[in-house]
Amino acid sequence: MLILRELTLSDENAFMSAVRAWPEHELDWISFDWRPGVNFSDHLAKLKRDSLGIGLAEGRVPHTMLYGFVDNAIVGRVSVRHQLNDHLSQRGGHVGYAVNPDQRRKGYASEMFKQALQFLHHKGLDKVLVTTSETNLASWKIIEKHGGLMENKIWDSTEKTFVRRYWVDTKN
Ligand SMILES: CC(C)(COP(=O)(O)OP(=O)(O)OC[C@H]1O[C@@H](n2cnc3c(N)ncnc32)[C@H](O)[C@@H]1OP(=O)(O)O)[C@@H](O)C(=O)NCCC(=O)NCCS
Repeated sequence: MLILRELTLSDENAFMSAVRAWPEHELDWISFDWRPGVNFSDHLAKLKRDSLGIGLAEGRVPHTMLYGFVDNAIVGRVSVRHQLNDHLSQRGGHVGYAVNPDQRRKGYASEMFKQALQFLHHKGLDKVLVTTSETNLASWKIIEKHGGLMENKIWDSTEKTFVRRYWVDTKN
C-alpha cells in the first residue's frame, strides 16, 4: 500500500535513501530544493513555506511536495501546484511526478497520481492540467488511465519534442 504525504522530521533517513537512488544531475526528480549540505529541517521549513505560498521566488506558485511511502521507504514524489501561471499553463501543469529508478513499473506513479488528484480535489480544484512529453509513453498512459482528455499538443523548442496537454477531472 502506498501512502502519499508531506515529509516530517522523522523522515530524514527515508529521504536520504531516496536521494541516493538518483544520480546527482537528476536530483530535481526527488527534490527541487535539497542539495548535499542542506540541513533536513531547513529543507522541511522551505517545503512548508512553498506549500503555504510564503516568500515564493518570482514566478513561482504555491506548491506542495508529496512523497510516496511504501513500507516506510520513499519510492517517488509528486509536485502539486495549487494554481497555474503562464509557464505552467503551457508546460508543467498542476502535477509532476517521478518514481525512483529502482522502483519503476510497479504501479507507483499511477497510484501517486490518483492520490494527488484527491489532494487537489480537497484543495477545491475540479479539473487540473497535466502535461507530458510526447515521447514519455509511461507518463501519458498514466494520465489517460485517469481520464485525462487531451486539449492539444504544443511544440517545446527547448526539449525539441511535442508536449501533450491534458485536463483531468479530480473526481476520477
Ligand atoms: C514516468 C514514470 C513516473 C512512471 O513511473 P512508474 O511507477 O514506472 O509507472 P507505473 O508503474 O505506474 O506505470 C504506468 C503505466 O506506464 C507503463 N510504463 C511504465 N514504464 C514504461 C516504459 N518505460 N515504457 C512503456 N510503458 C511504461 C506501465 O506499464 C503502466 O501502464 P499500464 O497501466 O497500462 O500497465 C517514471 O518512469 C519516472 O519517474 N520517469 C522520470 C520522471 C518523469 O518522466 N516523470 C513524468 C514527467 S511528466
